[in-house]
Amino acid sequence: MKNTIDYFESKSKSWDMNSSRVQNAKSISEFIVKNINLSKNMEIMDFGAGTGLLSYFVAPYVAKIVALDNSPSMLKKFKEKRDEFACATEVLEEDLHEIYPERKFDGIVSSMTMHHIEDIDTLLSGFYQALHHDGFIALADLDKEDGSFHSSNAGVFHYGFDREMLREIALKIGFKEIFFETASIIDKPHCKFSVFLMTAKK
Ligand SMILES: C[S@@+](CC[C@H](N)C(=O)[O-])C[C@H]1O[C@@H](n2cnc3c(N)ncnc32)[C@H](O)[C@@H]1O
Repeated sequence: MKNTIDYFESKSKSWDMNSSRVQNAKSISEFIVKNINLSKNMEIMDFGAGTGLLSYFVAPYVAKIVALDNSPSMLKKFKEKRDEFACATEVLEEDLHEIYPERKFDGIVSSMTMHHIEDIDTLLSGFYQALHHDGFIALADLDKEDGSFHSSNAGVFHYGFDREMLREIALKIGFKEIFFETASIIDKPHCKFSVFLMTAKK
């Protein structure tokens, strides 16, 4: 299903200028590098790559990043800076479901995107199918929050996630070695929001 509304059109131009966003992506990438044995022959997908904040920091550790996102405006920003990435990149303006089952990846990373996806069971099943044997997921998003993280909740389906609920879904699908860690704290004037990193293997 193509994205008919680009929810990120107005935000895309200044997305990378928010230092807290950059710091969040950097911190998540450091936890990914610490927890996953990345290697220079891996092709991974960054689901909801946006302007490429997470991709940029993970790029030195892998061969190729396939940046999948359904926002043309966010991907435009990704493409403008792709020469600065320390690995090959491919940009796919798609909703995740469109690439099954043709592509398989060594791993899937994602930052702050799952809360925009309504059906998490289907999303994680899709990830499972899109991984090679022994492939990994490393998915970061907000812990349960009160709905005040975003100034507008248009396009937001989850006010963060309960870690145990995600663990149960992942286990049911067949993922193993499921771990959670706090990867970052986003400090907003009214509240602090914690961000988890969930890692698991196929
Ligand atoms: C909050 S932004 C995060 C961007 C980037 N990962 C980061 O950390 O800066 C969420 C991204 O997910 C993308 N997105 C939302 N729903 C999507 C879907 N169904 N398929 C692909 N991308 C999606 C949006 O277009 C947006 O770029």
